[in-house]
Amino acid sequence: MSESYDAAAVALSDGMLRRESGRLLIEEVPVDVLVERFPAPLFVVSESALRRRVRRIRAAFERVWRHGEVLVLPAVKANPVLALQRVLAQEGCGADLVGAGELEVAVRAGVHPGRISLNGTAKDRATIERAVALGVRVTVDDVREIELAVMAARALGKQADLRVRLRPHFETDARMDSFGMPINDIYGTYKSGLPYDDLAEAGRALTAPELRVSGVMMHMGRYTTDLSVIGGYSRRFGELTAEVSELWGGWTPRTIDVGGGFAPPVDGFGRANPDFVAPDPPSIERHAEVVCENLGKGLASGGLDLEGCVLEVEPGRALFGPCGIHVATLLNVKRQTRPFPFTWYETDTTQLFLSEIPDEAARPPVIPVHLPETGDRAEVRVVGRSCMSDVLARTATLPAMRPGDLLAFCFTGAYNDANASNLNLLPRPATVLVNGTHAHLVRRAETIDDLLARDTLPDHLRHPATGAAR
Ligand SMILES: Cc1ncc(COP(=O)(O)O)c(C=O)c1O
Repeated sequence: MSESYDAAAVALSDGMLRRESGRLLIEEVPVDVLVERFPAPLFVVSESALRRRVRRIRAAFERVWRHGEVLVLPAVKANPVLALQRVLAQEGCGADLVGAGELEVAVRAGVHPGRISLNGTAKDRATIERAVALGVRVTVDDVREIELAVMAARALGKQADLRVRLRPHFETDARMDSFGMPINDIYGTYKSGLPYDDLAEAGRALTAPELRVSGVMMHMGRYTTDLSVIGGYSRRFGELTAEVSELWGGWTPRTIDVGGGFAPPVDGFGRANPDFVAPDPPSIERHAEVVCENLGKGLASGGLDLEGCVLEVEPGRALFGPCGIHVATLLNVKRQTRPFPFTWYETDTTQLFLSEIPDEAARPPVIPVHLPETGDRAEVRVVGRSCMSDVLARTATLPAMRPGDLLAFCFTGAYNDANASNLNLLPRPATVLVNGTHAHLVRRAETIDDLLARDTLPDHLRHPATGAAR
């Protein structure tokens, strides 16, 4: 970590982080004080950063979508902590979600049901019924789900509101930024959405009087930051929507949802990959321009009446990522001189809690919570405490640190906690929400008892001392 690297990470936080005499603060709270109250490892999310970020995303699309309102449906999966979902509900957001658990958190957060999209493949009957009962929109992934929605609507004596997930195909030889696979292969085989072949049958099924079909959606995913590819898919999505309208006898969408996949300002994604050529991620404003301009061109091919049509966007990583940090304690400094000199900074966290590092080859900036004004810096490897190789930062240039010192992994608010797992029975960290000078525990840390709570011993194994088989 050079000083400029540290300063850049702080500067890129858009006011969420700052230093006072070398001490790192998130909003108005010194991070070391936070950890005295809520021990590390710890996720910390800034409430004002989250509010600022969602407003900025909405404004970016409002500036360029001329037909109607813009509705942000944050991807619940990226950070399903109830308090964060409540903040976003207060901001007027909907929710993009998958499964009964995420539906429950959105409902408890107070998200308006009509603004929720129940997405995902192979939805089960009970979850569709719950969605229809609540007035939640079901985003149809397969013809089979249309029948389930009709049955639920009949049983409940009410109409079900459906949207249709499309699978636009845009011919490109572009490759995924992070892992280099051809985007066409990944997207063409990605399971979600109604296959083109099923659109006519879906159109017939969707005329059932129990159903109201309000819109279309697609999600391209975070395969690239190349705006020409994002534009190509957006245009193709517009054209496909126009084709569907024609195929379904002039049906017109009232909502068009372009999904998520927008790059966060500090796109850690893919950067740990040695072959990765890191393009600067486009801003959300640029993203919005390219998406809407191209979507508009595609839609224009069908002459649809879009007056009042709502544009929906489903940011996950680009919304939650920049608003959170993960704090870890240095437990031990280990050095070797042979076969070559090497230093490990061994921490109390793990890649199991920072899963974007192994899963997405992410490389979040790692900075000391106390930055000494002077002193040498050295190249070290920052590692986690699980039995895996657990490399958190392959080569970090950090000041000399001692056990007990703290490190912050910046911009780790998306997917890390949501994907955290328990190898070595390591209990998952707490999440704290910071608001000005206040800090609130919004998700407690797991305990070892939590981890063992699901296990039971059958009768014949009750006694540890007797080994006899029955
Ligand atoms: C349907 C849908 N919408 C939105 C998202 C959020 O994507 P991202 O976090 O890349 O913005 C996802 C992520 O998988 C998704 O499947």
